[in-house]
Amino acid sequence: MKIEKPSGKLGVLIPGMGAVASTFIAGVEAIKQKMARPIGSMTQLGTIRLGKRTENRVPLIKDFVPLEELSNMVFTGWDINQENLYEISNRSGVLDRELVERLRPQLEKTNVLKAVFDKRYVRRLSGDWVKTGKNKMDLAEQIIADIQTFTKENNTKTNVMIWCGSTEIYFKSSAVHSSLSKFEKGLIDSDPEISPSMIYAYAALKLGIPFANGSPNLTVDIPALQELALKSGTPIAGKDFKTGQTLIKTIIAPGLKARQIGIKGWFSTNILGNRDGEVLDDPDAFKTKEESKLGALDYILQPEIYPDLYSNLYHKVRINYYPPRGDNKEGWDNIDIFGWLGYPMQIKIDFLCRDSILAAPIVLDLVLFLDLAKRAGMKGIQEWLSFYFKSPMTLPELYPEHDLFVQLAKLKNTLRHFMDEELITHLGLDYYED
Ligand SMILES: NC(=O)c1ccc[n+]([C@@H]2O[C@H](COP(=O)([O-])OP(=O)(O)OC[C@H]3O[C@@H](n4cnc5c(N)ncnc54)[C@H](O)[C@@H]3O)[C@@H](O)[C@H]2O)c1
Repeated sequence: MKIEKPSGKLGVLIPGMGAVASTFIAGVEAIKQKMARPIGSMTQLGTIRLGKRTENRVPLIKDFVPLEELSNMVFTGWDINQENLYEISNRSGVLDRELVERLRPQLEKTNVLKAVFDKRYVRRLSGDWVKTGKNKMDLAEQIIADIQTFTKENNTKTNVMIWCGSTEIYFKSSAVHSSLSKFEKGLIDSDPEISPSMIYAYAALKLGIPFANGSPNLTVDIPALQELALKSGTPIAGKDFKTGQTLIKTIIAPGLKARQIGIKGWFSTNILGNRDGEVLDDPDAFKTKEESKLGALDYILQPEIYPDLYSNLYHKVRINYYPPRGDNKEGWDNIDIFGWLGYPMQIKIDFLCRDSILAAPIVLDLVLFLDLAKRAGMKGIQEWLSFYFKSPMTLPELYPEHDLFVQLAKLKNTLRHFMDEELITHLGLDYYED
């Protein structure tokens, strides 16, 4: 494949400048200033094996594929309150005050732009830093103008948009989403089925800017925006960052299945006290998240193929808003399993995690990989980035791959494919031939 080399600044456009976005940007600044290492980021620390095991070729991924340098990244974003990133970082309470103070000069420079926001989709939040317009098309054009101004002022060569905004209420794809022409008419008519996240995505895709969806919102999971992505030659990826409990689930479940261990029940509950937790306290927003979280087990365990092991599995997921914890979520899993002759056993997991600390390196990797995909001429759904998502996007006729290790193999083979390297099948019989 022919991949253009990165040749200038990369703009990162973020609708939703909250805990995840501020932790990501502050983290990149801290790494640039050598105050910290990019822990959790495959693009920065990951390696890739090339050729045979005897060749000992294991470069860093960032030395293998032409990724943009962190020093060339510039940021902007939209939110519903007029704050700068320094204020947001302090309010979010993820990073130590001391670190935020050291980064203050950089963080204070980033102000948030006025949002396209509608309280009907995120009922628990209100803000006054919000755009007005004659219809939704007008709002989309204002976002396009924001992006063009940012591109000009910062002289960015390429841009990537990544949604780090709140979870919108649950709704399904409908007629207005079924084609680009209906969607564009819907924008002019301010159709209530077009949510703010779709308006940002439309603006990005119109400009050929790759779009990633970090939340479980419907956003680019609709034919209209997928049509636009193909038409404008733009990669899209989603949805819902795979961070705490679902990450653990997609690590443990494939292992139990590999050993043909049965599972009777999987109960997952969380306490969480950040703004995301507050938004998810609304049952209609939680429903969006629940759908995204529930899918993983069914797809990994395939109860229709393994009825003896998984057909009676009871799976429940709960998120409880509990302000004292802030961003430091605690997730409990109780897994009722059974083994030889049906004898029951249990696994208990208590994950004291930090939501935004787990999400920030995912944002970094997605931005860099989507920029790479664009330069490689990829367009539409980027299934090879499933590794990063709770609810990976695929073509309608394909089931999503949730097993973290299959996702990893797919991602690395895609990078090998980009660079014309042999794909690795793990067959390895040739080592034993003589
Ligand atoms: N942190 C994690 O581990 C994790 C994992 C998976 C998914 N997510 C998702 O990522 C998103 C961000 O999470 P967070 O913890 O940063 O939440 P957060 O509440 O701190 O930040 C979200 C921000 O989006 C803003 N917002 C809402 N609607 C907007 C709009 N239309 N335009 C512009 N801004 C808007 C809110 O005001 C808020 O500041 C959420 O949707 C969350 O569900 C987070």
